[in-house]
Amino acid sequence: MSDLKAQSTSKPLSSVKAGPLTGRVRVPGDKSISHRALIFGALATGTTRIRGLLEAEDVINTARAVEALGASAEKQGDIWVVKGRGVGGLRTPDGPLDFGNSGTGTRLMMGVVAGHPITVTMTGDASLSRRPMRRVLAPLLEMGLEILEPGKETLPLTLRGTGELMPIVYRLPVPSAQVKSAVLIAGLHAAGKTTVVEREATRDHTERMLRHFGATVTTETKGNGTYITVDGDAELAGRDIVVPGDPSSAAFLAAAALIVPGSDITIEGVLTNPTRIGLYLSLQEMGGDIAFENAREEGGEPVADIRVRASRLKGVHVPAERAPSMIDEYPVLAAISTFAEGQTRMDGLAELKVKESDRLQATAAGLTANGAKADIDGDTLTVTGTGGLKGGGIVATHLDHRIAMAFLTAGLASDTTIVVDDSTMIATSFPEFRPIMEQLGARFDEAAR
Ligand code: S3P
Repeated sequence: MSDLKAQSTSKPLSSVKAGPLTGRVRVPGDKSISHRALIFGALATGTTRIRGLLEAEDVINTARAVEALGASAEKQGDIWVVKGRGVGGLRTPDGPLDFGNSGTGTRLMMGVVAGHPITVTMTGDASLSRRPMRRVLAPLLEMGLEILEPGKETLPLTLRGTGELMPIVYRLPVPSAQVKSAVLIAGLHAAGKTTVVEREATRDHTERMLRHFGATVTTETKGNGTYITVDGDAELAGRDIVVPGDPSSAAFLAAAALIVPGSDITIEGVLTNPTRIGLYLSLQEMGGDIAFENAREEGGEPVADIRVRASRLKGVHVPAERAPSMIDEYPVLAAISTFAEGQTRMDGLAELKVKESDRLQATAAGLTANGAKADIDGDTLTVTGTGGLKGGGIVATHLDHRIAMAFLTAGLASDTTIVVDDSTMIATSFPEFRPIMEQLGARFDEAAR
């Protein structure tokens, strides 16, 4: 397995005003799909072959966890090969599982641990150790999971699962695919049918991929929500998976091409699952010239090449209902809204406060520190277009990869250099961010001002 280690010292980085961005590029594999491919491979019998797995720190930590639990995950040529242990077949690891910065790895794996009679300690970095786990633990406790320090709700946590989980019907109190997925994964092990009810559609990769691995998952939309049901006592069989390009990584490239005059780029093979492309719809509404070309299906997911050309943007209202389909993209949308004419109002951002950082605060603070106008009112962020960022303050990234990439992106079209206090966290999701951006014509500088 590759030996990627989290960097311990921070590295400031700045982006510099660029000439037109041009060319055709690919972005690495989708992070959500990569985590799931490894985890379901470990729960399947036989071999799963994954092409295009994202080799970023978050996903590598999930691969390590899967191995510590008794499956194997290793790269052979271009393909990651996972040898699974079957549903319920994982074992107690020798030591704690360290998930680094990854909420997805942690929360999905809590669903796995719940269904095994094993005791597992989970740890993470300072950012992950602050993030709420109660949202996942509450339904899993109902099903039979035990927390060895009752009442504790943040990492580090020691959990004891059981071979006899109870099926439940669980209405999601927050629109979270991680919580939905943890309950559905636990449901694979339960005796009977487990149902999650969601009011707002969240990313559906778990449902799609579980079906691909042979589980029975049904989805029914009624008046008060969508009912997603998985059959318990499931058996998964190893499969081939192709991971499409990550639309959340492609977002930075697309945003940069819109604001850097004269740009014309194509990002090939990007996932266009409707539960993930809210940002692109919002950018089109802002006047962004974005075309989905060569639309096709790969590995059970819709994919397209996304062509983006520099455009004059105007402010829009992004409705709260769209938030789950672009939840990771608000920092970059807010950063480039400073280039739009008028105001961009983004509603329904409560969940942004519990990401790798409080992204609502971190985004607004980075914008105001750099001469932009950003106002928070409850769960709404309003950015007023002022011709881009004016520079002046170093952006505090708070161990958050997307805050770093969002501001570096906006800096590519700003008159002054934009500096982020740390770029090391970019490796958690998109280690190739800088070289791919540079391939298109972007410029960065390591020297802090
Ligand atoms: C993810 C779901 C989202 C998203 C995260 C990945 C997933 O989190 O922010 O980056 O893979 O299920 P929530 O489920 O907490 O909204």
